[in-house]
Formats: sequence, structure tokens, C-alpha cells
Amino acid sequence: MKKRSRRRSFAAGILMGSALILVGTGYAVVSAETTPSPEPAVAAGSLEQLQLGRQLFLEGCSSCHGLQGEGIAADNATGGNGGPSLIGAGEASVDFQVSTGRMPLAVPEAQAPRKDVQYSQAEIAAMAAYVATLGPGPANPTEEQLNLENANIAEGGEIFRTNCTQCHNFAGSGGALTNGQYAPSLMNATPEQIWQAMITGPQQMPVFSNETITDEDKQNLIAYVEALKVEPNPGGLGLGRIGPVAEGLFLWTAGLLSLIAFAVWIGAKVR
Ligand code: HEC
Ligand code: HEC
Repeated sequence: MKKRSRRRSFAAGILMGSALILVGTGYAVVSAETTPSPEPAVAAGSLEQLQLGRQLFLEGCSSCHGLQGEGIAADNATGGNGGPSLIGAGEASVDFQVSTGRMPLAVPEAQAPRKDVQYSQAEIAAMAAYVATLGPGPANPTEEQLNLENANIAEGGEIFRTNCTQCHNFAGSGGALTNGQYAPSLMNATPEQIWQAMITGPQQMPVFSNETITDEDKQNLIAYVEALKVEPNPGGLGLGRIGPVAEGLFLWTAGLLSLIAFAVWIGAKVR
């Protein structure tokens, strides 16, 4: 009898132990997902960086965008590739296009799709810095602008529904547009890419300047899209406003409580 109950509490101990590890791992995953990893800082526009950027541009982009980024008209007769002028396209546009794998374009088609990225982050930054010297254009968001700590997900949801759902759909999963074009899903876009898309307006997408959507509202909106990635219907749990740490803690506590209840239930069953 005594032996049995000791074995039972041993089993319960193992159960609790593995449960704690499970919940702990789950919590780590959740918090890793909600903490944006900072981009490695690159000295902006150093001579070396600009030289690298220019070299990469000449090798990988100039065949379509011109040796000075002035653009090349597509030659339909010879099937020659063309590309728009990048003078004034800005750092943010290059970073967006290359970091989503849209550029370099492989085959000319109605729309440059998202693909595997061809360059390292440092190379992308170098090309972006080089193109920025060709003419003033939208700059990348700063780390401070991308800080979503005080963002309001509920307000972000309203801004999203007003400005984005007509093309990207309520769940951010994308949708068809006219002429065989489409608005892609937003589930793979990083906060930085979402910001860049708004300030550069790729293809059919309008530019959302500061007058249309302020910095603060961009943060709210991005926080909302980030929440959509985790939970397709954010707000359903009514946790939207308490922030990632509190949410993680809630998950951790809730998980722990349900496991204790489970252990007690097993104990009762065995008896
Ligand atoms: C095969 C031709 C081709 C190559 C190579 C190419 N591009 Fe493009 N690029 C295009 C075309 C066509 C467009 C316009 C269509 C689109 O935006 O989807 C475009 C659009 C862009 C835009 C958006 C311009 C704007 O005003 O919105 C940027 C930025 C860009 N390319 C950068 C690059 C960079 C950087 C490289 C090299 C790594 C590169 N491209 C290589 C053809 C090309
Ligand atoms: C008129 C339709 C339209 C509206 C409105 C619109 N978009 Fe887009 N969006 C597009 C299209 C089209 C593309 C693809 C462009 C391309 O591939 O060059 C796109 C691309 C994007 C991407 C890149 C996704 C990826 O992973 O590559 C993001 C992010 C994005 N949009 C965010 C937004 C946000 C946020 C809003 C609202 C503030 C918005 N869009 C409003 C049409 C739209």
C-alpha cells in the first residue's frame, strides 16, 4: 500500500516535471516569436559599403535597371528585359524588394512574386545605401519606429480594416486583383517589410504616407498583423491589450493550472 502510493507520487512527479518542461518550452517559443530580433547595425553609407553596393548593383541589377539606375525600357521585339528607374526609389524600396526575394527579377511576369532571398542582409543594406545616393526616396524605418511595445492592437485592427482588407482580406491572407495580379498574404512579412510596403507602395499597392497613417498608427497596425499571425482572430480571447509578457505569463499560468488539474484527476482515477 505504502509502496504503491510512493510509486504513484513518483509518477505524478514525472508527469509534473515533463509538463513543466513542455509549458516552459511553449513559453519560450511564444516569447521568441513576439520579441522582434534586432537587425545587425550597419554603418550607414560608409564609402566601403557604397562601393560594395554599387558593385552588387552593377552585377545583379543594372541589366534591367540601367548602369546608373536610370531604368531600361523593355524591348518587346527582342524580348529584352526592362526595369523602372530607381532614382528616388529609396533605401526602403530596395530593402523591401530584395529582402522579400522579389528582386532580382528572374522572369518578367505580371507581378514579381515573393521568392527565396538572394543576398545577405549586409549586401541588401549596401545596395539600398547605394540606390539612396541616386536620389532622395523613402528611408528604412528606425529601430524606434519599429518598437511595438506600446502599440494598441485593437486600434491597429481598425486601421487595418479601413485601409488594407479590401485587397489583403480580413485575415491578411491576400486576394486576387484585376489583370491576373494579386495582393499577397501578409503572414510572411516582417514588421520592417510591412512598414516598407506602406511607405513605398509596391505595384498596385498605394503609398500610405504619414498623413494617411501616422507612425503611431503604423505601429498599431503592424502589432495587429503580428497578432493575426499567431491567432487568426485576435481579440477573441480579450487579451489583445495586455502585451506579450503578460500574455506569455497568462499562457504559462493557464497551462500550469490545467496540468495540475490533470494530475489530480489522474490521482483520483488511480485510487
Ligand atoms: C530581369 C530584370 C530585373 C532585374 C535583374 C532586377 N529588376 Fe528590379 N525591377 C524589375 C521590374 C520589371 C520591376 C517593376 C515590376 C515590379 O515592381 O514588380 C522592378 C522593380 C524594382 C524596384 C521597385 C521600384 C519602384 O519604384 O517601385 C526596386 C527597388 C528594384 N526593382 C530593385 C532591384 C534590385 C536592387 C535588383 C538587383 C538585386 C533588381 N531590381 C534586379 C526588373 C528587374
Ligand atoms: C489596392 C490594393 C492594396 C491595398 C489597399 C493594400 N495593399 Fe498591400 N499589397 C498590394 C499588392 C498588389 C502587393 C504586392 C506588390 C508586389 O508584389 O510588388 C502588396 C504587398 C504588400 C506587402 C508585402 C507582402 C509580402 O510578404 O511580400 C505588405 C506587407 C503589404 N502589402 C501590406 C499592406 C498594408 C499594411 C496595407 C494597409 C495599410 C496594404 N498592404 C494595403 C495591394 C494592396
